[in-house]
Amino acid sequence: MLSVHQMNTFSPQDIAFTHGEGAWLYTTDGKKILDGLAGIAVNGLGHAHPTLVKAIADQAGKIIHSSNLVNIPEQAALADKICALANMDNVFFSNSGAEANECAIKIARLYGHQRGIANPQIIVMERAWHGRTLATLAATGSRKAQAGFEPLVTGFIRVPYNDIAAIRNIAAHNNDVVAVLTEVLQGEGGIYEARADYLCELRKLCTDKEWFMMIDEVQSGVGRTGKWFAHQWAGVTPDVMLLAKGLGSGLPVGATVAKGVAANVFKPGNHGTTFGAGPLVSVAALATINIMEAENLLDNAAKMGALIKAEFANALSGVACAAYVKEIRGMGLMLGIELDRPCAEVVKIALDQGVFINVTHDTVIRLLPPLIINEAEARELVARVTAAIKIFSVALSAPTLAAAAD
Ligand SMILES: Cc1ncc(COP(=O)(O)O)c(C=O)c1O
Repeated sequence: MLSVHQMNTFSPQDIAFTHGEGAWLYTTDGKKILDGLAGIAVNGLGHAHPTLVKAIADQAGKIIHSSNLVNIPEQAALADKICALANMDNVFFSNSGAEANECAIKIARLYGHQRGIANPQIIVMERAWHGRTLATLAATGSRKAQAGFEPLVTGFIRVPYNDIAAIRNIAAHNNDVVAVLTEVLQGEGGIYEARADYLCELRKLCTDKEWFMMIDEVQSGVGRTGKWFAHQWAGVTPDVMLLAKGLGSGLPVGATVAKGVAANVFKPGNHGTTFGAGPLVSVAALATINIMEAENLLDNAAKMGALIKAEFANALSGVACAAYVKEIRGMGLMLGIELDRPCAEVVKIALDQGVFINVTHDTVIRLLPPLIINEAEARELVARVTAAIKIFSVALSAPTLAAAAD
């Protein structure tokens, strides 16, 4: 329960965790819950990974924060590592996904001004999610999130997702565009994938028009889809890529990764932060990446994701509740099961079944389990979530509830 002194922004489940181990969470009232959410795509290594815990504890005993007014060797090593994995050139570190996006928006705008464009515009997508700060809220494609915060930051042009013709159309008559910002796999928007051919066409168009292709991998990055970054499935490289969530395994870090011209837009004084990737956070992020490599977690995410998807297709075929299931979609361990109606109650029902999940975009059950999940746990996840959907659908077909739902 929230204290009266906690601002009223979330409606949390009435549950708290004392600790976790691997893919399991333990509640204050002694229950063991399978983690199907990983702190919203953050705890890729699961909970209390001993190598990560040791790295953080060792670093905390040396120096936690020093500021970006001095060299931070741990941050330099992290930047080198990310650039090597992404085939990109440099990184600005911040503290969240929204901040990583804000930085990208500033890079794009400054690039526009450097080219003599006084009113630079960024193309963004319907259903997009880029954060809740004022500029990222304007870039986000959710009227629900935006309502009440007008006047919104201007400078964004919205198009349907996966629609290259809509972007070509803008390219034909608008000379103020400087960048396109998109997710490869929309997370908050309901787990929708960008087609590989769309991303390739978009890459080509951005290069031709000298626009920055800016890819928000805050949710889909750092191994979640089975590649380091989801855009790598399409074989494209963006000019700017945004990371956060899984990068720090729970310590707050955002990263704006840039390549080529985009990597050289900022000069000293153009952007900054007090905290961004201090020694402790950098060590946690480096350890996260190193552990993922050592334990082959990209492969595991791809394999477990395919298994979970296939098992759901089996479990939800030919059963009564299948009538309510519209689609099972996603990549790797970023999966969505879309029902034909709002289903927020499934979260509580699933908790009663011993699994923690989430519902996004009102109708999509979202699964983001830790990347360390093993086969037995993956099967258990499917069994428990399927049981929750069945209970939800039985309640729906009861005469009073069915009438209420219609
Ligand atoms: C794709 C994407 N971008 C940006 C954000 C915002 O990240 P944060 O909540 O860390 O500000 C999110 C958060 O869900 C996200 O999914």
